[in-house]
Amino acid sequence: MKPAWFQDRVHLLTCVVAFCVLMEPAAARHRHPQDPAKSSTNRPWLNSNLSPEERAELVLKELTLDEKIAFIHGNGMPGWGEPRPNAYLGNGGAGFVLGVPRLGIPMIQISDAAYGVRASAQNGRYSTALPSNIASAASWDTQSACDYGSLIGRELRAQGYNMTLGGGVNLTREPRNGRTFEYMGEDPVLAGTLVGNRMKCEQAQHVLGDIKHFAMNDQESGRNEVNSVISKRAMRETDLFAFQLGISIAQPAAVMCSYNAVNGDYACENRYLLTEVLRKDWKFKGFVVSDWGGTHSTLKASAAGLDQEQPLDDFYGAAYKQAMEAGKIPLAELDEHVRRVLRSEFASGIVDFPAQKSVVDVQAGLETSRLLAERSIVLLKNEKGILPLDPGKLRSIAVIGTHADMGMISGGGSAQVDPPGSKEPKWQDKVWFPTSPLQAIRAKGANLRVAFDSGANPESAAELASKSDVALVFVYQWTSEDFDLPNLSLPENQDALIEKVAQANPRTIVVLETGTAVTMPWLDKVSGVVEAWYAGSKGADAVANVLFGEVNPSAKLPITFPISVADLPHPQLQKPSLDGMGLAAIMKTGEAKPTFAIHYDEGLKVGYKWYDAENKEVLFPFGFGLSYTKFEYTGLKIRSGSAVTLNFNVKNIGNREGVEIAEVYASLPGNSGEPPKRLVAWSRVGLKPGEEKQVSLAVPKEYLCVFDETTDSWKSLPGDYSFHVGSSSRNLPLDGKLTLN
Ligand code: BGC
Repeated sequence: MKPAWFQDRVHLLTCVVAFCVLMEPAAARHRHPQDPAKSSTNRPWLNSNLSPEERAELVLKELTLDEKIAFIHGNGMPGWGEPRPNAYLGNGGAGFVLGVPRLGIPMIQISDAAYGVRASAQNGRYSTALPSNIASAASWDTQSACDYGSLIGRELRAQGYNMTLGGGVNLTREPRNGRTFEYMGEDPVLAGTLVGNRMKCEQAQHVLGDIKHFAMNDQESGRNEVNSVISKRAMRETDLFAFQLGISIAQPAAVMCSYNAVNGDYACENRYLLTEVLRKDWKFKGFVVSDWGGTHSTLKASAAGLDQEQPLDDFYGAAYKQAMEAGKIPLAELDEHVRRVLRSEFASGIVDFPAQKSVVDVQAGLETSRLLAERSIVLLKNEKGILPLDPGKLRSIAVIGTHADMGMISGGGSAQVDPPGSKEPKWQDKVWFPTSPLQAIRAKGANLRVAFDSGANPESAAELASKSDVALVFVYQWTSEDFDLPNLSLPENQDALIEKVAQANPRTIVVLETGTAVTMPWLDKVSGVVEAWYAGSKGADAVANVLFGEVNPSAKLPITFPISVADLPHPQLQKPSLDGMGLAAIMKTGEAKPTFAIHYDEGLKVGYKWYDAENKEVLFPFGFGLSYTKFEYTGLKIRSGSAVTLNFNVKNIGNREGVEIAEVYASLPGNSGEPPKRLVAWSRVGLKPGEEKQVSLAVPKEYLCVFDETTDSWKSLPGDYSFHVGSSSRNLPLDGKLTLN
């Protein structure tokens, strides 16, 4: 008896040529990519002058039922159960989808790539680690987002992949969410704009892009069994708006539906999300891929709009075929799933420009990583101008903190990038990237005495600090997929370490390596605070360049730092009860039901909108970040046309060149039921000392709309709008009003 996979494949072996291509080792096929142009006479779908839609339609007509079904499921992931007999066809990533060699349609080789390409270690490859996604959001820079995406796209292709699972854009509703570092912060316009630009440039490298996790997967605790309950209006104006913007900018090949349920239905079988919103309202043309193990049914999921199950075929393999044969799924429904996958393959260029393995450009990657880190480091406190440090005036520096001699922490889970020289990290290993703060600081001055203390013994660290001109304390907070933080405090007694060091030497500067916000009970006692996030392959050099003023920091926080978790919308993290169903049952039964609910009753009030509406003080507001120079705002003028246009001046009134991120917020009419204000525009303005520039920003009218549940559509409210301009969500010196009809 031949195994089932072999029988499935028999349909593919209808001609000798196809047999040869199928049996040829994967490596050989990479060496001899097909030249589509040569074969387009017999294979009209390979004519790149046709639209992706036309090409997909032509291929669809050629496919057998088994070939069609092969498009709608994966074939396993290394480490996910027993490998399938065809596992050798995979590229070592998160999974793969079979191609149709006889038609010149390549396999889809998928890799996670949140801040760099995953799984290098076990595959003997190299990947650049960029600063984490939340860090890149702190740049507020669409060009940086584009550079980020291009680099990942290039490294994916160099490693033989043609699909990325990056593009995380769930809003930071819950800052303890262990995946906050993989996302773009708490504001939908900022997050959606940046993820869209990142993905647009990633896809320009001819990889299938994927935006995730759709939707309301805003915490890790109980992610497979939670029902996120939220009103349509709140969902559409917050989390979904980030997706909507990202999708409109990038036209991504795929959307990954999330593990959780939303208003009662699992996201991967949620008709409202997948069909009403994505397909109908947003006109999304790509395909919906389930999160790994996030499919729960065949009929319901297929009808709701799930196009592809990953990483296996529990529901979209034999069960799908049976359902087809029993007449329970119309052929048109299957065709629509396949058409969407094919269309994305043509639109992204993976058919016309097959991925070819090559050597990753390590130097270029390191350079990009450093530049992006420099644009994402946020200066939070700088008392009496302690920063930038002047190597000419300092004699001694204490570098304190665990691993600060050899590395900086990185974010874990499926986002993890493996550092050079490392073995495959185990799930939930803390991974320190070999970018040494100690060395980077030593490199700043031959005459500097730079000594190190790990901080394991706070007394000895304090002793060193007391004998040094300045103490730099590197502290970390490690986060990962699969769990949430119990609170926002630094772990491992690091608060006490900082207190001790600052007591010994008030000229203490704290460098934070965090994936989300942290509380700072020691804030008043230190002179400086720098948020470096998970800073990537060249993090230490970037931090040193900021500390010593070779780079004037320009980044601003994409999330609020609260004073205490008591100030969060849900002070108590909501978790499943202990007698929950358990992961295996939830993923396998097909009859899974969520076991608990999170009521997102803060609704529209996400992030700063919550603190504004509740009149709460914060530690550091959304949009906040210092520079080594100072900026002045004057002369706001507002006009209304097809968009609302704001003109104002920003002047550098300090004596250093710098970049100011000027922010614009809008307040909707009083009866709108909206939080006090929302971010609607921003600009990064580069200014020499004394220089002044006029900034002109157009606010699209859609950014001023509200979602109306009764008509299920967006509407603009007539009335008085006010606009506020300044350097952070809590420092807005310019104000103007406008009445809109
Ligand atoms: C994560 C996804 C990831 C996938 C494949 C899932 O556990 O939620 O973000 O892309 O695994 O590794």
